Amino acid sequence: MKAEKGTFVVLASGRGSNFQAILDKAAEGYIPAVCKALITDNPDAYAIERARAAGIPGEVVSFRSFSDKQTYETALIAAIQKYDPDLVVLAGYMRILGSEIVRKYSGRMVNIHPSLLPSFTGLHAQQQAVNYGVKVAGCTVHFVTEDMDAGPVIIQRTVPVFEGDDGDILADRILIEEHKAFPEAIRLFFERRLRIEGRVVKIGNAHSPSPGRDD
Ligand code: GAR
Repeated sequence: MKAEKGTFVVLASGRGSNFQAILDKAAEGYIPAVCKALITDNPDAYAIERARAAGIPGEVVSFRSFSDKQTYETALIAAIQKYDPDLVVLAGYMRILGSEIVRKYSGRMVNIHPSLLPSFTGLHAQQQAVNYGVKVAGCTVHFVTEDMDAGPVIIQRTVPVFEGDDGDILADRILIEEHKAFPEAIRLFFERRLRIEGRVVKIGNAHSPSPGRDD
């Protein structure tokens, strides 16, 4: 195992409030790892400002600059590899990734989704939850696999859904939990406490860590 701290890069497409929560938790030492870069597909993402404020490189790999999905993904992989991260964190990254990149970072790429998976995959998950009439909603942090929003679940946090909620109100309530769940999942990863067994994630205790990346 490396003697120095682990490293991660964050991919985000917009506001970047989860990115900020992760940065804050890394800065205070709760996440025992260093964020090496922000990578975004959106040149207007507010997340870029957050990276700048934190003194972290922000890279734009814009889908529109490439002729097709394959060349885009090749460029994205190159942008990530430049930092040789232990973990790739998808924090509101709104593009579906292809199989090459997902396979490359298998077991080392995590995503947050604003629903209790497997319910309400894809876009507007919070509005889907309101429309369906569920009484409990929440967020899920999971490892990324080739099937969208279907990878092994690391952590879920719940919130109540009240009569009169709309998608935006529920999204705000869930977001508060996202900002707790995501740093916690990343911390567990870097504490080497996550073990994937089939589609189930087992969480080891702090004194018997599970095997992780050894190079
Ligand atoms: C978050 O609610 C995140 O769960 C969601 O986008 C938002 C990003 O907010 N992600 C997805 O819907 C992915 N399918 P943020 O930019 O403020 O972190």
